[in-house]
Amino acid sequence: MNNAPNEPGRNPAGLFCENPAISSPCPETAAHSLDAWRRGIIVRAEAGTAALASLLAERLPVNTTLALHGGLGAGKTTFARAFAHAIGVRENVTSPSFAIFNLYETPARQFAHVDAYRLGAPADADTLLLWDLLRPPWTLLVEWPENLGDRLPPDAWHLHISPLPFPAPASHRLLRLE
Ligand SMILES: Nc1ncnc2c1ncn2[C@@H]1O[C@H](COP(=O)(O)OP(=O)(O)O)[C@@H](O)[C@H]1O
Ligand SMILES: [Mg+2]
Repeated sequence: MNNAPNEPGRNPAGLFCENPAISSPCPETAAHSLDAWRRGIIVRAEAGTAALASLLAERLPVNTTLALHGGLGAGKTTFARAFAHAIGVRENVTSPSFAIFNLYETPARQFAHVDAYRLGAPADADTLLLWDLLRPPWTLLVEWPENLGDRLPPDAWHLHISPLPFPAPASHRLLRLE
């Protein structure tokens, strides 16, 4: 692992490992470590969120759900779009707010993208027949996972995307795996 100091030219996405004690920049290579993800990684721009999505796409096991937590405009769909692209989805991934979920096929696996924002109750998820449509190997990303309640697989990974408090610039986000 490269522990060289952060250099702007080598770190275009602006990745910072959050360390409350030091809060110093860390090299982009640190984002390959899941420990860094659990501490939290700060990105300075949308491109940083997309870069992290590609990295997590390499780490998330197949047949695993990734719950994307975060408020409106946090960057959940942005993250899902970059994740999908990284695993070979060629279609443009848009928010499935109205369809609740979209299913994409790649040569290597299925990619399902759920936006549970408008789901009335967790039991409504059963009518989507999502679980009947998924064939291994698959990856499922869920926005507003709290609305799925106990329908969320117990082995789901949880990623939190949050803006940083003022005076941090509006394009900064903290991404943290739980
Ligand atoms: N660092 C960032 N990561 C993700 N999105 C960002 C970032 N900075 C600004 N944005 C903007 O915030 C918005 C996020 O929208 P979206 O991904 O649809 O959020 P959500 O799905 O969480 O509601 C987009 O307009 C995007 O351009
Ligand atoms: Mg969204």
